[in-house]
Amino acid sequence: MTFSFPKLLLPLLFLGLLPGPAAMAQKKKPAPTTASPADIERRVADLLAQMTLEEKVGQLNQYSGREVTGPANDRKNTLLTSIRNGQVGSMLNVKGVHDTREIQAEALKSRLKIPLLFSLDVIHGYQTTFPIPLAEAASWDLDAIRLGAHVAAREAAASGIHWTFAPMVDVGRDPRWGRVMEGAGEDTYLSAQIARARVLGFQGEKLGGTDAVMACAKHFAAYGAATAGRDYNAVDLSPQQLWETYLPPFKAAADAGVATFMNSFNTLNGIPATSNAYLQRDILKGQWQYPGFVVSDWGSIKELVTWGYAADKADAAKKAVTAGSDMDMEGDVYSQSLAQLVKDGRVKIDLVDDAVRRILRKKFELGLFDDAYRFSDEKREKQVLNDPQNRAAARQMAQKSLVLLKNENATLPLGNQLRKIALIGPIAKSRRDLDGSWTVNADTARITSLYDGLRQRAGKATELLYAKGCTVSGDSRAGFDQAVATAKNADVIVLAVGETWDMTGEAKSRTDIHLPGVQEELFKALKATGKPVVVVVFGGRPLIFDAIAEQADAILYAWWPGSEGGLALADVLYGDYNPAGKLPITFPRNVGQIPIAYNQQYNTGRPLLKPGENRYRSAYIDAPNTPRYAFGYGLSYTAFTYSDLKISRPQLKAGESVQVSFTLTNTGKVAGEEVAQLYLRDPVASLVRPLRELKDFRKISLKPGESKTVTFTIDKDKLAFYNSTLEWVAEPGKFNLMIGSASDDIRLEGAVELQ
Ligand code: NOJ
Repeated sequence: MTFSFPKLLLPLLFLGLLPGPAAMAQKKKPAPTTASPADIERRVADLLAQMTLEEKVGQLNQYSGREVTGPANDRKNTLLTSIRNGQVGSMLNVKGVHDTREIQAEALKSRLKIPLLFSLDVIHGYQTTFPIPLAEAASWDLDAIRLGAHVAAREAAASGIHWTFAPMVDVGRDPRWGRVMEGAGEDTYLSAQIARARVLGFQGEKLGGTDAVMACAKHFAAYGAATAGRDYNAVDLSPQQLWETYLPPFKAAADAGVATFMNSFNTLNGIPATSNAYLQRDILKGQWQYPGFVVSDWGSIKELVTWGYAADKADAAKKAVTAGSDMDMEGDVYSQSLAQLVKDGRVKIDLVDDAVRRILRKKFELGLFDDAYRFSDEKREKQVLNDPQNRAAARQMAQKSLVLLKNENATLPLGNQLRKIALIGPIAKSRRDLDGSWTVNADTARITSLYDGLRQRAGKATELLYAKGCTVSGDSRAGFDQAVATAKNADVIVLAVGETWDMTGEAKSRTDIHLPGVQEELFKALKATGKPVVVVVFGGRPLIFDAIAEQADAILYAWWPGSEGGLALADVLYGDYNPAGKLPITFPRNVGQIPIAYNQQYNTGRPLLKPGENRYRSAYIDAPNTPRYAFGYGLSYTAFTYSDLKISRPQLKAGESVQVSFTLTNTGKVAGEEVAQLYLRDPVASLVRPLRELKDFRKISLKPGESKTVTFTIDKDKLAFYNSTLEWVAEPGKFNLMIGSASDDIRLEGAVELQ
């Protein structure tokens, strides 16, 4: 069998935008396992029939193995003994062919020789780091996102990993919540599309290839709705919001065949997700008929006691397994209580059998029973991890993820005629920060900083001056004078500011999301020189930077762009790549505006008609209602016009569809890509609907002067919502449609009527 590229990516390949198959295929692609589902079912049943209760419970335990591969210690001895006794189903945090092989060998000493699953948080790359997931979402480029996940999977699988705890498909609407960096932003439709792309990227079309890993849709469910944006907090959510906003990306992942789900740390309307039978039994395994297994989050079964939902660990085990949590991650709760609970008749053996079956099925599908070392080839590991094509793909992804927020007087792109550039700021030379949080095997030495990228691109004829100016946090202005002196000497200033890599992520919620420290003060001092200032902002979440937003000449939002970020930034700053990223999350003006996601906005009974006329209107007296940067916003070095809206028919019935088309023209001087967005509003309904909701988008590439016709199809499904009795209904009547370049930049408007 030869290396085959995912079909969806083929067009990109022909355009020369992706590394070719010959280059990506270091070797023949190892075939997925060929066992039929019926074979697998038979083998699972045979094995289950041979297992003791203790061995069954063993499959439901997962432990972190950071200490297992080092020198002897107590935990290592205990874990290795448990593995040899068949008391462990999976390990996390053991990686690399050498180490995983060593531990797998212990599992094969157990009575039934059931192989372990090796899992890891491969969130945005394994060795080659891609932009953080939120940044990738800013590309609105599903093929590229799928490729990113595929490259990450290929590297991880070559390194002995079978299973990644990704994608995180939680809709993240609150920038205070540190984990917004891990998802696809605030919009449900975009998140669902990206969830599908990532699952297919990680897993391939069918599980079992040794260039793929099992994916895990997490965190089920509503983790992103944590009260006050505080991580691990309670969630109180209407059923409509749950179904309409938070569940669709999970459904999309399930439909794409995601092998596993992870539940979440939060409660949902009083019941912890880990022990939530409505979520796991009724919806996931019931209504959706999901065949994979559910792993708990780290210690979340044990935490049922801390929440005050279970009396003790045994009670927690009973509640979690009853609610459908199949595997206990690092909780040591199932291991301690489950067998006894079954013996006492408090938990039915059928529940345990069902969980074990789900896990064994995946081990068979991965081919581990045929060869437990399929993912353990040291030669392949070396080859794949050093494949330069992986880095090329990461650079392309980083280019696509950058968002141009401002560009006055065409300050960007930087011209080749510039002789002196002053690169200033605490992140200018940083490597580690570019990778962001959630790196698992990254090597800082491989990261290209912005300084390195610009140095390389600027060439010999351009001097690249540098001053740090200040640190990210802290209040020292001691470096300002030198920074200003350096800037005065240059034609243009590029200022690199932002958050450090560890300021956003898990357990990194913040009440103040301003650019930290004195970085804005540094900006003001530089601006006072009169030189043009281009600001590159790094961060894992929307940040607030008022002076920069108002006074900078140009702003490029870099997110955390990954190991090739410095190169990609230089590509964009110099215009070798025309930026096309669009914000997947709203940037507020201040924290008090949160929740401010674009689709959480309603007309209200007293809408604000004119900014400033706030009397008895739904408004603030100290800030506008509008965000700093809206969902879907992002500039280009060229300009696009939208014209000739055509609606194929004014009315539709159930079962019919309407084609909505328009002409998109590149009116500028350079080639570029535009993400055209379709929004709908149901202006009169049995439940009040948001002002606009994204229903479709297209990313279109146009040469200067070129026009293309873009067509969206509207059917009943696009008009539907969950009504007060949770039925998915499209109510007859008029629907407003809006097509634009951002959620606040609508260029064409029309209407259709559902009869
Ligand atoms: C806790 C996080 O919530 C989850 O996303 C992650 O996969 C696990 N830890 C394992 O590292």
